Amino acid sequence: MSESETTARYRPETRLVHGGTLRSQFGETSEGLFLTQGYVYDTAEQCEARFKGQDPGFIYSRYSNPTISMFERRMIELEGAEAARSTATGMAAVTTAILAPLKTGDHVVASKALFGSCLYVVQDLLPRYGIETTLVDGLDLDQWQRALRPNTKTFFLESPTNPTLDVLDIAAIARIAHSGGARLIVDNVFATPIWQSPLSLGADVVVYSATKHIDGQGRCLGGIILSSEAFIAEHLHNFMRQTGPSLSPFNAWVLLKGLETLGIRVRAQTESAAKIADALAKHPKVTRLVYPGRADHPQAETVKRQMGAGSTLVGFEVKGGKAGAFRCLNALKIARISNNLGDAKSLVTHPATTTHQRLAPEARAELGISEGFIRFSAGLEHADDLIEDLAQALEKV
Ligand SMILES: Cc1ncc(COP(=O)(O)O)c(C=O)c1O
Repeated sequence: MSESETTARYRPETRLVHGGTLRSQFGETSEGLFLTQGYVYDTAEQCEARFKGQDPGFIYSRYSNPTISMFERRMIELEGAEAARSTATGMAAVTTAILAPLKTGDHVVASKALFGSCLYVVQDLLPRYGIETTLVDGLDLDQWQRALRPNTKTFFLESPTNPTLDVLDIAAIARIAHSGGARLIVDNVFATPIWQSPLSLGADVVVYSATKHIDGQGRCLGGIILSSEAFIAEHLHNFMRQTGPSLSPFNAWVLLKGLETLGIRVRAQTESAAKIADALAKHPKVTRLVYPGRADHPQAETVKRQMGAGSTLVGFEVKGGKAGAFRCLNALKIARISNNLGDAKSLVTHPATTTHQRLAPEARAELGISEGFIRFSAGLEHADDLIEDLAQALEKV
């Protein structure tokens, strides 16, 4: 296999198409799909050297694989990270990045506004192993500061948050974490690598559900953790080899093809989301509208500082609570009801009864997830069709 030159000197669009390509002796144009569990060796001596780390190459696809390597390299070059490890799902990435470096007696601080499964990991899973956790209002820097303890090892947040699209100040939170010797892990799913680079803002680790925008076409699950070489060597390398949350080579190949179009998809979807937000902001049936690209977003200043543009998602609340939201969802003809996001097809979610139904009603209210709140993930359809579809659906509210 011949490795392509690094694409790090090129702009993100070029890195998304060429980053990390490994070409076999056949000189294929598209990335090769290596559906193989293992590898063979010319001699027993070579096999021994490979296991000792003295001979470069692959050993077993739970550890690594040429197609998976290409995906990891392309993400490394896009994100400006030193190293990466991919995983079977976004939740495998979140769980591994948080859990692998910790031990009993450590302490984790996380923002309350988390995707439901991430909240489960922090709130329910970690304490079972004697890891203490504190949940804070992620927008309140004093709460992060006050939560720091001598045994705090990790800060964890997502921004923009799911589903209310609050934007947390990553640079300021990273400074607080580092002042106490802790690391900051950022779930960058909602922002996408196109609009936000947490590592350049001071975060230590970035995680993605590649299931979302990176595939972006509803096909397969995947995840990735990006960080320094040292974090991976010290905390992830052995943990992942032995516990095996590995990405399948087939999914890595699909995700590689997804990366080729990530930039143009995210740009087009963001443009549509912005137009939808402007249309909804004026609508009499809409009682609240949140869109990180608008001047009326509560953290508009932070958005300007840390994000390249708004988001492919829009949050809005309709009149009539749950009944109103359900009428709107049921009347939509183009956007489909789903708990997924970041897809080429527009998807619409009622968080209170799906992604966040596990939360107590008071906890949902505290996060701003009211019964009438809807999350709209803009797809690649024409923005005017989506706006007209929403307008006819809102008439039913
Ligand atoms: C913010 C966020 N993080 C993590 C995940 C988990 O990703 P996956 O479904 O690929 O496990 C999701 C969505 O499911 C998400 O929205």
